[in-house]
Order: sequence, then structure tokens, then C-alpha cells
Amino acid sequence: MLSYRHAFHAGNFADVFKHVLLIQLIRALQCKDKPFRVFDTHAGAGRYDLHSAPARKNREYQNGIGQLWDQSALGPELREYREQVRVLNPDGALREYPGSPRLIRTLLRPEDRLTLIELHPGDYPALKAEFTGDRQVAVHHADGYASLKAFLPPPERRGLVFIDPAFELRNEFDRLVEAVQTMHWRWATGMAAIWYPILDRAPSLRFQRNLQQLGIPAILCAELGLYPYDQPVGLHGCGMIVINPPWKLDETLNRLLPELLAALRTGEPGQIRLEWLMPAN
Ligand SMILES: C[S@@+](CC[C@H](N)C(=O)[O-])C[C@H]1O[C@@H](n2cnc3c(N)ncnc32)[C@H](O)[C@@H]1O
Repeated sequence: MLSYRHAFHAGNFADVFKHVLLIQLIRALQCKDKPFRVFDTHAGAGRYDLHSAPARKNREYQNGIGQLWDQSALGPELREYREQVRVLNPDGALREYPGSPRLIRTLLRPEDRLTLIELHPGDYPALKAEFTGDRQVAVHHADGYASLKAFLPPPERRGLVFIDPAFELRNEFDRLVEAVQTMHWRWATGMAAIWYPILDRAPSLRFQRNLQQLGIPAILCAELGLYPYDQPVGLHGCGMIVINPPWKLDETLNRLLPELLAALRTGEPGQIRLEWLMPAN
């Protein structure tokens, strides 16, 4: 049964991390004139009202986008991310938060396409409504993992698969490893970005070892830990695996991750990690 609703977590520090990185990946795809396709396999509702009852329950956005909203000394990537959120909030007060679909859509050129997949019967109609009449966006009520087999490779032959699961299932990490293998068989040159939570350290490290055993080249791992891993908080941090990352993404992240950690201002000794799990050939 699907019980996870992203509306409770929209705009939190994990969203900031994943959406800042996502913008960097799309910007890199824009460096060439040829069209690209983005797949968002776990798309959510598309956008979120931070004044809604779910968002107000724990006000997670206050430790995420809320921290960055009025900061003056942000670097260019964080400023660009905040600008994208400001587009939805023209009066300057933070209320609407773009989910990954809205964020990606804003960055498409007229020749690019976006395929969105969402399984939850509650979030799918909102997602569908958000993009009604948009000829560049296709919205599917389906399983994100099964969709990879159906849709890859795309006719454009360049682009990104963004996988941002709810981690409700005990075997989510195993499904992700299978998804990476599927992607590699069907579209070895495509870029993939996979978000994961860091609650206990062991499962995410095991996931990374399993990815290394696939023998697929060019796997970069970026992690942001907001709280020491031995503290009894729920979500200590999160990470993103990027397969076939754009040129020099590692250099950008080397500068950006410490900036992000500082901008999120928890007062805790956080940590970052940036590591090639598999080198590029
Ligand atoms: C973390 S949220 C996605 C947030 C979104 N990517 C964003 O950044 O705004 C995960 C979503 O995956 C959906 N989901 C869960 N299992 C799924 C599956 N097998 N296929 C597609 N969507 C699924 C959940 O309903 C939820 O909306």
C-alpha cells in the first residue's frame, strides 16, 4: 500500500539538495543544441502549497527552502534554485513550492520533452492537472520502475532519468540496483540521478557497494549529512547517485556541497561526501 505523501515534506532540506542538483543536471543537458528527454519516475504531485495542512504539520520546509529564502550571500547555483522557487511566488512571500516536475518543466527548451510517472492515486490527478494541455509533458499513472522498461531508450537518445522513490518498501535499494542495470542495458549513454535517504548508514553504503558490483562506469556519489550519524534523529542526511554525470559536475559539487551545508544552518556539525564509486572510462 502507498502511504507516503510528499506534501508533508515538500521544500525540506532533502528537497533543496535534490532540486539544486537536478537544476545542475538539466543545465548541463542544455549545453548542446540537440533535444533531450527527462524521465521523472516518482514524480509526486508536481507542486505544493506550503500553507496546506500536510505541509504545516511539521513545517519541514522551514529547515529547507525557508532557510535560503532571505539569505543574501548565496552562490550562483543556490541563487538560481531560489529564483526558480520565486517564479511561483511573485509577491515575494514563500507559499508555493515546485516539485521536481514543475522545476524540470521550467527549464525545458521548446524542443525538449518530459515524461512523468506517479503511482499514488491521490497525487496522480494533481500531477495530471498541473500539466493539462502541455504538449511537452506526458503524465502516466504507472509504476516508475516498470516504466523504465517501457520507455527506454527515448527517441532523443540524450537526457536524464531522475529516480526519487518514497522508500516505503524494504527492498527499495534492491529495486534501484535493478533499475540501474535496466537503464544500462537499454540506454547506456543516458544520465541517471537517484536520490536516497540516509537514516541508518549501513543500507545506503550497502546500496553503493551493490552498484559498484554492476561494473558500470562513471558513477558519482554526493551526500549531504545535516546531523551526526550517531544522533537519534530520523533523517540524518541524503545522497544522490549520478550515473554518466556531466563534465566537471564533480568540480561544481566540490564547491556547492559545502555552500549548501552552510546555507542550511542547522548549528550541527554536518558532513558532506563526494566520491566516484566507479570512475568514468
Ligand atoms: C519523494 S516523492 C517524489 C517527489 C518528487 N520527485 C519531487 O522532487 O518533487 C516519491 C513519490 O513516488 C511515488 N511512488 C511510490 N512508489 C512508486 C512507484 N512504484 N512508481 C511511481 N511512483 C511511486 C509516491 O507516491 C511519491 O509521490
